[in-house]
Amino acid sequence: MVNYKDLGLVNTREMFAKAVDGGYAIPAFNFNNMEQLQAIIKACAETKSPVILQVSSGARKYANQTLLRYMAEGAVAYAKELGWEHPQICLHLDHGDTFELCKSCVDFGFSSVMIDGSSLPYEENIALTKKVVEYAHQFDVTVEAELGVLAGVEDDVVAEESHYTKPEEVIDFATRSGCDSLAISIGTSHGAYKFKPEQCTRDPQTGRLVPPPLAFDVLAEIEKKLPGFPIVLHGSSSVPQEYVDIINANGGNMPDAVGVPEDQLRKAAKSAVCKINIDSDSRLAFTAAVRKVLAEKPGEFDPRKYCGPARDEMVKLYKHKIIEVLGSDGKAE
Ligand code: 13P
Repeated sequence: MVNYKDLGLVNTREMFAKAVDGGYAIPAFNFNNMEQLQAIIKACAETKSPVILQVSSGARKYANQTLLRYMAEGAVAYAKELGWEHPQICLHLDHGDTFELCKSCVDFGFSSVMIDGSSLPYEENIALTKKVVEYAHQFDVTVEAELGVLAGVEDDVVAEESHYTKPEEVIDFATRSGCDSLAISIGTSHGAYKFKPEQCTRDPQTGRLVPPPLAFDVLAEIEKKLPGFPIVLHGSSSVPQEYVDIINANGGNMPDAVGVPEDQLRKAAKSAVCKINIDSDSRLAFTAAVRKVLAEKPGEFDPRKYCGPARDEMVKLYKHKIIEVLGSDGKAE
């Protein structure tokens, strides 16, 4: 049994309370490899932004859960080495699907876990969430739950149909489950193809898809029911079109990739939404940079020569999100 406090990590409680009060959101960035983690920590150290490092089931399979946890521990030391005196780093399990998995993460030094019972019947979702909360809270580990279903594909999480969170359920759910934060569904979805072309209009000048707006009316109703309660948005990548263009111009094929426009995320960050999940944008930044280097220098075979530029591109992306979209810069001096 390792407690996250001994690793220099923090849970989400104070982060979220400050974010709700201050009208900004904490970045929740997924990581699967060293370059992503280095880029996240560098961006956060340079902007003094609190951060949630997320480990998904795909990341656990790809990189190994044990290794990822040690990497997060190393991240705290790395942050200090970069001159960030008091790093606010949370290690979070993304989309935990069983009590056993959440328990193993709590026991292993995670400071926050998500139990995603959103595909279960309502009462079963409450019961499972409550069981995780009762265990996690003994160790001061915070718990995110989910109500409502997001469409899209994220590693092993696949849902064909979305349905918005029902505002009339949130008080009962939060009270009875005891969760610390709630992921809701208001139209975001996982992956780089968030909206089908038939859900969008097309910009006549550029030919690009223009996605439908998020359901801010549902968010406002939820906020009214649960004032000050931390709300989480999954599936919040914007799918920057400049990366899609670089990928497509260098041998890729990502037609009609589209995300959530950043102005909508900016608006959400000012509300009770205090955690915004971003994974796909980092994958796009990485892939765009790698494709560009390999297209320009076909003889290159040293991974450092293309993973290095990919890492630099991710630092730029993360800083942009922190400063221009979430507003979390300077909140962890
Ligand atoms: P994106 O696919 O939009 O980056 O969402 C990631 C996410 O929500 C992780 O839980």
